[in-house]
Amino acid sequence: MIEKIAQLKAEIESLSPNDINEVEQLRIKYLSKKGEVSLLFNDFRSVPLEQKKEVGKSLNELKNFATEKINALRANLESAETLDPTLDLTRTATPIPLGSRHPLSIVREEIISIFSRLGFTVAEGPEIEDDWHVFSSLNFAADHPARDMQDTFFINRTPDVLLRTHTSSVQSRVMEHTTPPIRIICPGRVYRNEAISARAHCFFHQVEALYVDKNVSFADLRQTLLYFAREMFGSDTRIRLRPSYFPFTEPSAEMDISCNLCGGKGCSFCKHTGWVEILGCGMVDPNVLEACGIDSKVYSGFALGMGIERITNLKYQVKDLRMFSENDKRFLEMFQSAH
Ligand code: DAH
Repeated sequence: MIEKIAQLKAEIESLSPNDINEVEQLRIKYLSKKGEVSLLFNDFRSVPLEQKKEVGKSLNELKNFATEKINALRANLESAETLDPTLDLTRTATPIPLGSRHPLSIVREEIISIFSRLGFTVAEGPEIEDDWHVFSSLNFAADHPARDMQDTFFINRTPDVLLRTHTSSVQSRVMEHTTPPIRIICPGRVYRNEAISARAHCFFHQVEALYVDKNVSFADLRQTLLYFAREMFGSDTRIRLRPSYFPFTEPSAEMDISCNLCGGKGCSFCKHTGWVEILGCGMVDPNVLEACGIDSKVYSGFALGMGIERITNLKYQVKDLRMFSENDKRFLEMFQSAH
């Protein structure tokens, strides 16, 4: 009996009917009242008592196995029959169109990654600001033109609520509640009351960096700038610093890099000077440290700020600033393989 069960099991296992009718024939052959499996149950009566337990178990297993197998065969054939005959299952999948990252995001991430290798971490602040964080704490004189409605978008006058004009506001926010060492990089959007043209926009993006600790020197600033320039624009990039003025730094400088289009030989992009300006920087003015509650006799620091659009123009030669905010797919798709 056990042998017979095993034999039937093997037989059922190897069944491969071609259509649903054949499945039904097989069901009748094995599982109907007079089917082969059912007949075995009749024979079971004559099995000696001491074998009943073992044989009964195998028999039940066989019945379950046969039922499941037949059901599975039927389900398979049924789903195959409902398939659309015009479907070609061997065809390669339709490609899913890949999106692309915005060029400003690509460049912002690259700047962050370069500074993070120097130990800087990202800090963020609000775009809707007050006078203190955007101007007063940063040593802007009371009559500085940036405080004028012509240059800055004011939401309210007293008390002052305005759209930040630079990410330097994040410097003062962080310094107010952090004891040095501070090493932060602050990316974000800024707003200025400018007529929109190819070269100016009423909003754009900046990255600010700030390092405050004991004994931070101008040499640290210069080395950081050189590292950044070479990581961003290539290892043969040269930098030069020109004296400049910002209310919140003393001394202040502007940094140029050797033109990355002509390698410094002079071309129309660098107006034949061989240099292009990329950022402002300087040693944090002691007045700013004090305004933010940091003892300027113990600590010193450097700061720098750059426009992300400007760096992107240099990397990808985007001539018209407006393209960054027009969402023209033809423009955006050009950056598909960039990162
Ligand atoms: N905030 C300046 C601007 O918007 C950029 C800048 C210059 C930031 C010098 C700095 C700096 O931190 O040290 O034009």
